[in-house]
Amino acid sequence: MSDRVSPPTKSFGVLVDINQALTTSGKLRPSLERTLELIQRADNVVRGSIIVSDATTGQLRTEVSCGQPGGTMAMVHSVVESGRPMVVPHTSQEPLFGKPGRSGPDRSFFCVPILIGRKSLGAVEMELPPQKDREYDVVVERYRVVASMIAQALKVERLVDSERQRLRDENLHLREELKEKYDFSHIIGSGGPMRQVFEQISQVARANTTVLIRGESGTGKELIAHAIHYNSQRARKPFVKVSCGALPETLIESELFGYEKGAFTGADQRKKGRFELAEGGTLFLDEIGEINLATQVKLLRVLQEREYERLGGNEPIKSNVRLIAATNKPLEDAIAAGTFRADLHYRLNVFTIFVPPLRERKTDITLIAEHFLEKYANEHGKQIRRISTPAIDMMMSYHWPGNVRELENTIERAVLVCDGNVIHGHHLPPTLQTAESTGTVPNLPLAETVGAFEKDLIQDALKTTRGNRAKAAQLLQSTERIIRYKVQQYGIDVSRFKS
Ligand SMILES: Nc1ncnc2c1ncn2[C@@H]1O[C@H](COP(=O)(O)OP(=O)(O)OP(=O)(O)O)[C@@H](O)[C@H]1O
Ligand SMILES: [Mg+2]
Repeated sequence: MSDRVSPPTKSFGVLVDINQALTTSGKLRPSLERTLELIQRADNVVRGSIIVSDATTGQLRTEVSCGQPGGTMAMVHSVVESGRPMVVPHTSQEPLFGKPGRSGPDRSFFCVPILIGRKSLGAVEMELPPQKDREYDVVVERYRVVASMIAQALKVERLVDSERQRLRDENLHLREELKEKYDFSHIIGSGGPMRQVFEQISQVARANTTVLIRGESGTGKELIAHAIHYNSQRARKPFVKVSCGALPETLIESELFGYEKGAFTGADQRKKGRFELAEGGTLFLDEIGEINLATQVKLLRVLQEREYERLGGNEPIKSNVRLIAATNKPLEDAIAAGTFRADLHYRLNVFTIFVPPLRERKTDITLIAEHFLEKYANEHGKQIRRISTPAIDMMMSYHWPGNVRELENTIERAVLVCDGNVIHGHHLPPTLQTAESTGTVPNLPLAETVGAFEKDLIQDALKTTRGNRAKAAQLLQSTERIIRYKVQQYGIDVSRFKS
């Protein structure tokens, strides 16, 4: 009695061990190996295997096995197909086992399906030495429990796999989208100053050179940093941004370089720094002028030696990251004030791109405004076709302290408040209204203000009708005679619109 296999308590212990094997290891194959080993030991298995169907092709594949290969695949197939267990108490009496090479000693054969719901994902099959008084039902029941635990592990693995695949696909898709978004064509500008910036971007993108981008706030420094990355050989690797100004001094170092577990109170696990996250790709340090002197020293080391250490760590970590830094303040002033290291500046200053403020590239204003008009009209589902000439004049005479960002906000606001299909001067924010050239300064006499607005409307109508006064009159619900009179009064050059 003592050597009888699987008395209830013993088999229960094995099941607990198998459960542990299937739930603790992250990978399925080692878990199945351990599972088979446990069954083999508990049941004196002569030969056996665990068979699983391939997630994509559905073909049955022996994942793990022990003993001499058995030629039992036909039985396994029928168990998988029927979803029902099979027991052959004496293989010597079963013709299916009677093939040449199988005429050895008598055995008991068990095969149970691995089921998720009604679907068979494989089978567990074992051959045991014959044994008197074996309770076949109990053995089958036990293997069914094992098979259901394997089914759970399989299910988890397949979910993880498909999730991983989904994330991989999504990542690829997002990268493509980003690449498109940061394509050169999305940086608008045709004037000389921007042409020079474009040339610089294409010169430097393919090299691994550190780039320093300088320019006032809102001039497009971040856009340029993206364009450099997505046009470089690192485009498929990460682009990681650090807003140095937004991080407290005490955090910046650990953000950049990461830390080891126990590096300081609260560091209960290792954390990757942005350098590590950007490995192989580009690290964009925005507002570089804001970082403290201690961090500057570490940054200098990465630039010189291409390695750094995590906080609380003493293993140097090799780094293959391209640095792009941006600043809207002259670093020379910070150097003079002793808050920025001259040697770091020297390292960063290898290739500098100066982005000109918008007021110095007036020819770009119309282009950029029209670009944003199209973008926001689409976004807000509005049918706005153009910007009136007076509104453009207002934009041209404004000094744009917030640069392209301010122009973008201005157009978005105008799109929101515009209820027709043309952006007029009065759709622009008050800051632009005060410009002298607009003729819409609020403290002008009423007649003059109304006149400017009227002129604006007539010009718009003439533009729409390509200079046809009769049609313009219809549009404005006025008469051709009045329009002729006003055109003369305001000195509108109708031939301008006849094209
Ligand atoms: N030439 C351009 N063409 C199209 N959009 C632009 C251009 N320049 C800037 N933009 C847009 O203007 C906004 C501000 O640009 P960005 O954030 O790159 O400026 P920045 O120089 O980094 O500003 P800050 O110094 O304030 O961080 C963004 O929405 C950007 O897409
Ligand atoms: Mg920026």
